[in-house]
Amino acid sequence: MKILVIGSGGREHAILWKLKQSPRVTKLYCAPGNGGISEIAECVPVNAMDIDGIVRFSREKDLDMVVVAPDDPLAAGMVDALENAGIRAFGPRKNAAVIEASKVFSKDLMKKYNIPSAAYESFSDSKTAMEYVKIAKLPLVVKADGLALGKGVLICNTTEEALSAVKSIMEDKKFGAAGQRIVVEEFMTGPEVSVLAFTDGKSVVPMVSSQDHKRAFDNDQGLNTGGMGAFSPSRVYTKELQEECMRTIFVPTVNAMNLEGRPFKGIIYFGLMLTPDGPKVLEYNARFGDPETQVVLPRLETDLVEIFDAIIGEKLGTIDISWKQNCAVCVVMASGGYPEGYVKGYKITGLEAIKSSNNIIAFHAGTKKENEEYYTNGGRVLGVTAVAEDIENARKKVYNAISAIYFKDAHYRKDIGIK
Ligand code: AMP
Ligand code: GLY
Repeated sequence: MKILVIGSGGREHAILWKLKQSPRVTKLYCAPGNGGISEIAECVPVNAMDIDGIVRFSREKDLDMVVVAPDDPLAAGMVDALENAGIRAFGPRKNAAVIEASKVFSKDLMKKYNIPSAAYESFSDSKTAMEYVKIAKLPLVVKADGLALGKGVLICNTTEEALSAVKSIMEDKKFGAAGQRIVVEEFMTGPEVSVLAFTDGKSVVPMVSSQDHKRAFDNDQGLNTGGMGAFSPSRVYTKELQEECMRTIFVPTVNAMNLEGRPFKGIIYFGLMLTPDGPKVLEYNARFGDPETQVVLPRLETDLVEIFDAIIGEKLGTIDISWKQNCAVCVVMASGGYPEGYVKGYKITGLEAIKSSNNIIAFHAGTKKENEEYYTNGGRVLGVTAVAEDIENARKKVYNAISAIYFKDAHYRKDIGIK
């Protein structure tokens, strides 16, 4: 099979790394890809949002499958366009990707179908929103409705903070059109768990659990980032909790989307908080998470092509999906300054040592390759991942591997996997 993956980050590298192990794959492409991805797939200079360009390329190469990994092209309808052109595409259609692309939609869905989540109100004008936050219970959480690179969520401890959050999102348009509407939510407490799940709209099969680290610095200090590291499995997500989530969240969500006439095929990422009142949904994503994918897919035993194929063909219920009994830790090496301003183009050294060793993988997020050398090319540069029999040993391995990798001003958290 000839398969194209859309995107250019560590998540896409992990997906391609896993696809490459399938005996059914004859050729892999990635649009646009990155330096590390170019070692296992042919990188195609087509932008991830260029729907016409992707459809044209897929036709030209007579591709057997296109995997749309990032949120933006999913929300823009890339899967719809590919399907309309007769190309087998993996990912939700636009009308289902809205579960991530609009928080107002997802909150209304959960309310309508009794799926546990924080209490909320939604607003489309700033004046009404401000009147509301003046009397609402603190702390509260203000969220931009649309896609905002994971940064559109503001936790407010005082009324002043809440008013300024509403102002910055709705009036100053900090997140552009994503902030035309907002959700104001009750603040919840408890440990967080990410559960990614395969679904073909009929069955839903959760993957092994994982935990992300969103803040830039150790001990959850500093600004929110796209994710500075992850580990799998979560220590707090028991079998009993998984059964409860299946019953109260996972199956009801897939059913709700069907009842709304928006059948969901692809990956649903359930961002969960294990509150004193039971597990509740923090957010849905309509795709694999980044960097969660980098710790989940290395633990997958089953051929990923077989799973994608079964989902597209709506036969997920007929296959067995199995996981390795191990643990994985991924530490993101970022450019100095990230998530704010940073410099690109520094040479990366020390990656050769990793290539030859077992159970350690350097997934590339923001790199480019020139004359056989790698250079930094983004905020998150590498996601170094180790698998081992337990988290502690995976941590040791990953930090040992990182100590050999160098680029100027590299920054990474030292506490991934401890919490
Ligand atoms: P989200 O993008 O909606 O997952 O939000 C980003 C982060 O904000 C989450 O991972 C939580 O740590 C935090 N968060 C979001 N909503 C709430 C809430 N209702 N209560 C407490 N924390 C929240
Ligand atoms: N790591 C969080 C996300 O992918 O949205």
